[in-house]
Amino acid sequence: MEWINLAYLVSAVLFIMGLKGLGSPRSAPRGNLLGAIGMFIAVVATLCDKGVVDYSWIIAGIVVGSAIGVIMARRVAMTQMPEMVAIFNGFGGAASLVVALSTYLIVSGGSASWATALVLSALIGAVTLTGSIVAWAKLQGYADQAMKLPKQGLWRAGLVLTIGVLAFLFIQNPYEGGCYLFARSLVALGLGVLLVIAIGGADMPVVIALLNSYSGLAAAATGFALNNYGLIISGALVGASGLILSQIMCKAMNRSLGSVLFGGAMVSDDQMDAIPGKEFYEGKVKSCGAEEVAMLLENAQKVIFAPGYGLAVAQAQHVTQDLALMLEARGIDVKFAIHPVAGRMPGHMNVLLAEAEVPYDKLVEMDNINPEFSQTDVTIVLGANDVTNPAARDDKASPIYGMPILEVDKSRTVIVIKRSLSPGFAGIPNPLFINDNSLMLFGDAKAVLQDLNRAVSEL
Ligand code: TAP
Repeated sequence: MEWINLAYLVSAVLFIMGLKGLGSPRSAPRGNLLGAIGMFIAVVATLCDKGVVDYSWIIAGIVVGSAIGVIMARRVAMTQMPEMVAIFNGFGGAASLVVALSTYLIVSGGSASWATALVLSALIGAVTLTGSIVAWAKLQGYADQAMKLPKQGLWRAGLVLTIGVLAFLFIQNPYEGGCYLFARSLVALGLGVLLVIAIGGADMPVVIALLNSYSGLAAAATGFALNNYGLIISGALVGASGLILSQIMCKAMNRSLGSVLFGGAMVSDDQMDAIPGKEFYEGKVKSCGAEEVAMLLENAQKVIFAPGYGLAVAQAQHVTQDLALMLEARGIDVKFAIHPVAGRMPGHMNVLLAEAEVPYDKLVEMDNINPEFSQTDVTIVLGANDVTNPAARDDKASPIYGMPILEVDKSRTVIVIKRSLSPGFAGIPNPLFINDNSLMLFGDAKAVLQDLNRAVSEL
């Protein structure tokens, strides 16, 4: 029907406007709303399609799916978002796989191009499903980070070859080759596990963005198989945006996509053995109390906050903003330094600080804030670790060498707030903590900041 295609066109325009809106924190809520309206129109148009013969299963699916979605979204902590995105990607892949296989069972044959779309939909859907489950298990701590299997490359190559042969056999004879399609999907489930099992550590967010991209590509292929323009457009948009996000994250961690996918662990076994233990810090750390920091702040003209994952864990965003407002009331210039992979998901710090109503113009991206550190009196590192590690800039042997960092060490004084000398996500020591101009303020970020706020208000 003409109007259904028109509705898909309108939703595609809304998706694109929505994606554009998501490009900046200020316009993100509007972008999100536009995308949601676009999705609503697309769903209504699909439900009005004459191809739907029975609504009872669809309504049951909507009710059960919505209930699960609402419960999951309400329960998930901000720090567990990557896990939730990972499992949702898996659901997307599963949907494409099941739709592809059931379409075959209903139609049981078609042109070579139809069979190719089915092959792609089932393949990418299956890889996304098992790959996402492995990613989710790793993020939950149920599976080891980067697991090496013997002859992994050979296994992968073998599975890819088998998939290729079975796909060829199915496309040659889509009417009688159903068993090849099903066998191929099983092999693809195994490939999904093998592709993700060897990846771990800080590479995981890249993998999740990539799996998100795969789930979009699987949906687009399903759209070709079902001749559904809405699915083709939205799947292609998810596929492209996931790929762009993966590239941005790779750049922020100084990794290539190829090395993330095929290079194995970010920290090699040799590098792991060479990582020093607690002796790295012994006798070299200077710690201080809230009153001492308050006195430093009293004489400061410019202060930068460098937030990281610990700020999110401690939920200290509101106390941080209280401190920022108090300092500004004293005429101090206050800014927040935002590293692209600080925290555990893209934009984590932006979302966290927006929740505490920190004005957008106070959030300064890494490339713009770095030249400012040398003119800063006090930088307060709030539960950040890897993204401030000078070894990434200075130490060629460091596993994170080359990853761009917030150059907080160039400030006159650096206050590092964290609970202990434990490492961050990358598992390596941070020489920032033993620098001459660094002072450690140990404790949970929220509790420490509350003490600091009290001390500043008593000045
Ligand atoms: P991390 O290097 O992970 O360090 C966080 C620090 O927070 C830890 O050293 C921890 O030290 C401290 N902390 C934890 N709970 C705290 C609390 N309640 N109060 C105070 N401090 C607390 O964080 P980062 O600097 O933000 O770097 C992010 C890392 O995660 C990078 O390696 C990045 O590649 C990786 N990663 C990023 C993403 C994205 S897309 N953002 C996704 C996954 C992984 P203590 O235990 O001593 O307190």
